[in-house]
Amino acid sequence: MNNLEQTLSIIKPDAVERNLESEIKSMFIKNNFKIIKEKKIQIEKSEAEKFYKVHETKPFYNDLCSYLSSGPIIVMILEKENAVIANRELMGSTNPKEAKEGTIRKIYGISIDKNSVHGSDSLENAQIEIDFFFKV
Ligand code: CMP
Repeated sequence: MNNLEQTLSIIKPDAVERNLESEIKSMFIKNNFKIIKEKKIQIEKSEAEKFYKVHETKPFYNDLCSYLSSGPIIVMILEKENAVIANRELMGSTNPKEAKEGTIRKIYGISIDKNSVHGSDSLENAQIEIDFFFKV
């Protein structure tokens, strides 16, 4: 059954800084994701706080928001059948040390904070996150 979905992907500051944009995008393309929209931006810490609001009670929240706003990021809308889960599989575990071979975080991630990519964790959050960055 056709279950075309869209999800939000972010190439985080650690990966942009290391010029990994094309390598990471080519992994999405090779895995049959379509990049529907993309932009390179740098956000304010207050915007990162809004984006990661679900994590506001976590001990790592402050550092996480400082980090996401510390340099340029690439935000993308990715489209594929079952895109949300497919993107999570391609990214690998949050902690690169636990990520499977061949996943983006295993290949490029440095640490749990500098894990190179973000991807929406559910279809509902994908819509919220897409609107956050792309709603006009
Ligand atoms: P991301 O998928 O962008 O969602 C929240 C981020 O918090 C996560 O990736 C990690 O980079 C970061 N993070 C830092 N510490 C932790 C932790 N202990 N558990 C989960 N996520 C963490």
